[in-house]
Amino acid sequence: PVLVLDYGAQYAQLIARRVRETQVYSEVVPHDTPVEQLLERDPAALILSGGPSSVYADGAPQTDPALFETGVPTFGICYGFQAMVRSLGGTVENTGTREYGRTELGIAGDGGVLHEDMPGHHPVWMSHGDSVSKAPEGFAVTAGSTDTPVAAIEDVDRRLAGVQYHPEVAHSPHGQEVLRRFLHDIAGIRPQWTTASIVDDTVAALREQIGSGRAICGLSGGVDSAVAAALVNKAVGTQLTCVFVDHGLLRAGERAQVERDFVAATGVRLVTVDAVDRFVDALSGVTDPEEKRKIIGREFIRVFEQAARDLQEEAGAAGEHIDFLVQGTLYPDVVESGGGTGTANIKSHHNVGGLPEDLQFQLVEPLRALFKDEVRRVGLELGLPETIVHRQPFPGPGLGIRVIGEVTQQRLDTLRAADAIAREELTAAGLDRDIWQCPVVLLADVRSVGVQGDGRTYGHPVVLRPVSSEDAMTADWTRLPYDVLERISTRITNEVSEINRVTLDVTSKPPGTIEWE
Ligand code: XMP
Repeated sequence: PVLVLDYGAQYAQLIARRVRETQVYSEVVPHDTPVEQLLERDPAALILSGGPSSVYADGAPQTDPALFETGVPTFGICYGFQAMVRSLGGTVENTGTREYGRTELGIAGDGGVLHEDMPGHHPVWMSHGDSVSKAPEGFAVTAGSTDTPVAAIEDVDRRLAGVQYHPEVAHSPHGQEVLRRFLHDIAGIRPQWTTASIVDDTVAALREQIGSGRAICGLSGGVDSAVAAALVNKAVGTQLTCVFVDHGLLRAGERAQVERDFVAATGVRLVTVDAVDRFVDALSGVTDPEEKRKIIGREFIRVFEQAARDLQEEAGAAGEHIDFLVQGTLYPDVVESGGGTGTANIKSHHNVGGLPEDLQFQLVEPLRALFKDEVRRVGLELGLPETIVHRQPFPGPGLGIRVIGEVTQQRLDTLRAADAIAREELTAAGLDRDIWQCPVVLLADVRSVGVQGDGRTYGHPVVLRPVSSEDAMTADWTRLPYDVLERISTRITNEVSEINRVTLDVTSKPPGTIEWE
């Protein structure tokens, strides 16, 4: 792998993704991983990420000089670039000037390998205080900016290079090409991490892990569990059974999508548990968001657990045992939880946490190494329909946390109808790829006066919450075209009789979360 040493940058995961986009496998590791441990991983290259502070600041993360004596191709970015320069005998100075944001990069000479044939001046994204004033011995300086004479260096013979700017962000339009040139041309890595190879390798590993055992997988209708199940199904076929719990908090058409489209695409064995009444009963009288989440989570586990026991009994009658539980854990969750191996990473109830000991499953996590965009590509490669692969994220507690106030069957039906209209219009307008998700929220305890067809109405408002995001950690409200908003508003108020007002949430995250509860 290409190992990205994380110096505390919010960018480290993004760098790993960009590396993978050049079809080279990459992982994030803590910056203080001992050099011997890095070498044990047999890295094809190392990338030192940006970091928060000055290389001279108290408590600044240290770089072991041995890092640059390993012979492994190494690329430094921002803080990592300065750490490299300082370790190898160049000069990093606190010049008193700061560069932040969009900056013009000027290419020096022929631009070297990294910047050859690029426009002589082009924009890059900078974010630093200290600057490199002198490159270490043996390095060519191939670019600079007004405030930073040394903004890119390379030593092709030693396969070391670095840039002051952030090549991984979209604001550096040539950055991806610079990374590619470092990896392919300077480090000499062959691009082999393709969607097809991911599928082949994962399927082989799953066959190895599961052998002739039996597995179950809880489907949420979301893309992660669907792709995880499709991979396991490809690997071991009928040794896998999928369980889909219909808790009545789903959006319109979701159950059919799983029962029909997913099964048609994969041929997977599917058991659907109808638990609608059970969930609505359990939520009766409850208005507190955390209490709702707890109840939904608890009921979900009980239902899933029962389904698993039933399957276990069935299998037992045939002299078999279910050994494995498939989970759709993604790489970002693995990194954030410290990268431990074999630990269940349960973020939310629909990942089916807290199964009782006596079920004793081993975890199977076929997406552990993948980012979301890779999961989607794998899904398409496996023949899953677009409707599943490019589905908006949907919270495990479903519409239960989008009805503000008590959840009742009627309120769920109202919200489901409004939500279906919003999704239909967004899809028709071709906006699905521009938004991360657009929750529709029913303010069930609020009423307002309206007028419709000469009559007074006294109905409920819904809130449209369209957001754009890379990873749901932060989000901005999406500037949807007015004509699309108008169509959604007109249709909802005409077609859903309980709703007489459509409002728009224009809050970013932070301070607002994406969901209202
Ligand atoms: P918030 O509301 O925290 O949501 O900004 C961030 C993202 O997570 C989704 N979400 C959940 N997903 N179980 C899930 O699987 C949950 O309990 C849950 N709560 C929020 C939300 O839709 C958004 O994409």
